[in-house]
This record gives sequence, C-alpha cells and structure tokens, in this order.
Amino acid sequence: MNVTFADISLSKQGALAILVTEGSTLRGVAAELDAKLGGALKRAMKAASFTGKAGSVLEIVGPQGASANRVLLAGLGKSGDLTAASLEKAGGELTGRAAKAKEASLSIVLDGISAPKLPAADAAAHVAFGAKLRSYSFDKYKTKKKDEDKKGKLTSLAVLTRAPATARKQYLPLSKVAEGIFLTRDLVNEPANILHPGEFAKRAKALTKLGVKVEVLGEAQMKKLGMGSLLGVGHGSEHESKLIVMRWMGGKSGEKPVAFVGKGVCFDTGGISLKPAASMEDMKGDMGGAACVTGLMHTLAARKAKANVIGVIGVVENMPDGKAQRPGDIVTSMSGQTIEVINTDAEGRLVLADALWYTQSRFKPRFMIDLATLTGAIMVALGKEYAGLFSNDDKLSKQLSEAGEAEGEKVWRMPMGDAYDKMIESRFADMKNVGGRDGGSITAAQFLQRFVNKLPWAHLDIAGTAMASPQTATNQSWGSGWGVRLLNRLVTDHYEG
Ligand code: BES
Ligand code: MN
Ligand code: ZN
Repeated sequence: MNVTFADISLSKQGALAILVTEGSTLRGVAAELDAKLGGALKRAMKAASFTGKAGSVLEIVGPQGASANRVLLAGLGKSGDLTAASLEKAGGELTGRAAKAKEASLSIVLDGISAPKLPAADAAAHVAFGAKLRSYSFDKYKTKKKDEDKKGKLTSLAVLTRAPATARKQYLPLSKVAEGIFLTRDLVNEPANILHPGEFAKRAKALTKLGVKVEVLGEAQMKKLGMGSLLGVGHGSEHESKLIVMRWMGGKSGEKPVAFVGKGVCFDTGGISLKPAASMEDMKGDMGGAACVTGLMHTLAARKAKANVIGVIGVVENMPDGKAQRPGDIVTSMSGQTIEVINTDAEGRLVLADALWYTQSRFKPRFMIDLATLTGAIMVALGKEYAGLFSNDDKLSKQLSEAGEAEGEKVWRMPMGDAYDKMIESRFADMKNVGGRDGGSITAAQFLQRFVNKLPWAHLDIAGTAMASPQTATNQSWGSGWGVRLLNRLVTDHYEG
C-alpha cells in the first residue's frame, strides 16, 4: 500500500474517513462534510448514537453529495487520552475496513487532531504507520485468489492534514520500521521448503544494498572455529548450516557496537527427540529470532541509524536422520565447554551458545541481546502478551521494559540464579541441554548465560510473541514481526547520537 500525505480535501474517491475525538465530532472538516451531505452525518450519528468513543466507527455507504463511495467517522476517544498507539490503532482499523470493502483507495482526514506530547504532524504520521502495518498480507502462494484480490486490493492511502510536509518527514523513519517488520513477517511466514538456511543467507545478503556488510560462514568455517554445539543441530539436515554476520556501522568510528543475536531454526522437527505431529507445521517459524534481527538490521540501515550495530544469526534445520545427533551425544562448543545433549529438541540454545560466544569474542560489544523462539514453557508462563526477559543487567532490563511499553511490545523480566543453574549440571559433561520440566524457560536462559562473559546481556524468549494469531488492528499476519519496534526504539533512545 502506497502512503502519501496531502492537504485536507473532501473531494476524494474510494473511502473517505475523518478522525474525530469524543464530544467534538461535528467540528471543522466534519461539519463541512456534513453540510455537503445535507446533514446526513448528523442524522447517522444520532441514529447510531455515535459520540466518537475510541474504536467506534460510523460508516455511510454511497452518500449523496460526496465523491467518495463511503464516508466514515472514526472515533478516537477523549482528546486528552490520545496517544501514538491509539492513532495507530485507528489507522489500522480504517485500513482493515477499507480493504474488506474492496476499496482501492482510502483517505484519512486529521483536522485539529493532536495531543500534548503529539503535535498534529506526528499524529498524522502515526495514523499512517498503523495503517501501513495493517496493510500487510502474505499471499504469494495463493495462485487462485490472486486475480480477484487484485481487483479489490487497497493500494493507496492518503493522509490528509494541515501539515503534510512535516507529517511526511515524521513518517519517513516509521516507514523504515514498517519495512523491517514486513521483512521479519515474510521470513517467518515463508515455509521451510523455501526458506532453508541457504535461502535465508540470500535474503540477508540482500541487505548489502542498504549498506549492511553481510558475511556468511558455512560449516567448514564454523568447524574451524570449533562450533560443535551449533553444528550438531544441523547434522541431520540436507541443508548446510550457516552463521550470518550483519554489520551496520552508522555510528562513530571506533565506538564499540551493540549486538543482536538470533535463533534461526528454519524448521524444528525436534530431531531424534521428535515432536508430535500436532502443530508441528508452526515450527517453520522457529527462526523468528533470526528474522527479527534481520528485520531490525534492515530498519536501522534504511533509516541510517547513527549507531554501530552487529546482527549475528545461527541458521540451521533440525531434522531426524541417520546422521542426526542422538540423545546422550556430547558436543564441544566454541567456548570449550562440553554439552550433553539430553534432548535434541532443545536445539535453539545449542545454536545460540556458539553464536553468543562468537559475537562477544569477535566484536566485544557494549551489550548482547538474543532473541529466540526458545521454549514452549514461556507461553505457559506469559501467554502471548509478554515476551520473557532474562538478563544479568538491571539497566539494560529497564531500558528494554520501557521501550517495550512505549512500542506495545512488552517484556516481563523472569528470575535467574544459582539454584536454577544447578538444574543443568550433567553427569558426563560440563552441562546438559535441558533442566527438566520445572522452570523450563529459566533453565534455558541459565544455559545461555554460561556462554556470556561479563558484559550486559539480555535474552528474549519470543516463542509466544513471534508467531501471533491476528490480534491487534495493526497485525493481521501470522508472523508478527515482534521485536523490530522494540529494539529500534531501544537503539534510538539510548545508543544513537
Ligand atoms: N522451538 C521450540 C520452542 C517452541 C515451541 C517455539 C512452540 C514456539 C512454539 C524449542 O526448540 C523446543 O522444542 N523447546 C522444547 C524444550 C524442551 C525439549 C526442554 C520445549 O519447549 O518443549
Ligand atoms: Mn526444539
Ligand atoms: Zn526450536
């Protein structure tokens, strides 16, 4: 969907929506439109008891006197309660409606809509952002529906405001966030027969055109580095495992980078510890952490972030096979520590162990944050509302919690400690890769921490949030793109400049 900004005009075709706040519904442009329609708006408002409550929409189809097919009043609630989030929601809601009605174009008017911390131009930019996020679809494999979809596809949004030039400027970085989110969603939505490690590497390589330096390490190079932990996971796969390093150096030269590390299991069958059949298809999304890191790198490079940022993703496929690793196998990680693989389905931590060690040894970053669809247990604990946050650093945790609240991608800090760490002691090796059912997400985090030296580190268990069912107005995708907004905000607020 193409997004443009222009001056306010009521002579629009397609769908024309006016945003109104509660109790002041028929002022300014809305009153003008009502006059054009011979009082039809006022009558409809009365008949529908429309007062402009947040989320309420009044729709008049085919009104006389308008050039638009349909006119909508969209309630934002009380003007004092307006936030970026509520404006995004309104933009998303209207986009959803226009798309459903098979309108090709939508115009959204903001006349005098602003909030104390949100000037009118920012308000318009956030409406556009919410609309853009909602316009995402992943239908490239639907050959039959395509023609009919094309006919009624919403292809253009005009946001009409008194400050179009400023709004356009404010929207620019947000549009880059949307691009990153769409890339993340695409990667998560792609099936594993298409998006295997080699194809993932190609898609990451495409970031080169934005100025990202991309290196792809294959199995021979990883073997030389001693990455027995990561490599063991891919033994049963026909596809070569990859470690992909992305670098965006937009900050001061010589300044230590920040680093993001992602779990990229293109498909997780569980390996020899095979998963049951029910919902196994969802495990094509087990590369959600890697997808988020890739989408984030896209966003940061596309908006030319003034920061030095490293993205490292371990990309593998976990398959059962004659060559696959077995329960009981002992592997040696790049750190030198040995791991007894009790359960081959606890593979994400094995991938991250070497990816984390590699990242800290090579780049000496200011902090490392890893993202992984790591445990089913995090969904038992937190559902899909919060991602699990595990960290050795209070400051980084606070920054993440605040960024999460601000962006609507919330994290909840979970406990860690020696008592949990003891649960992964092994009879035969330095550690085992599972700690039993109790505190499953925590023992997974303790395992990861054994591969982190003394630097600020946070682990985000996104098993619940990376693969969302369509919940919010701004997300109709299975792959949610969760994390790009959060981490872009973290970089913007604390590590840029
Ligand atoms: N990829 C899964 C976790 C997962 C489950 C993500 C459901 C998204 C949705 C992970 O590799 C896994 O299999 N974890 C096991 C760990 C167990 C064997 C200790 C789990 O959560 O059951
Ligand atoms: Mn698994
Ligand atoms: Zn997994």
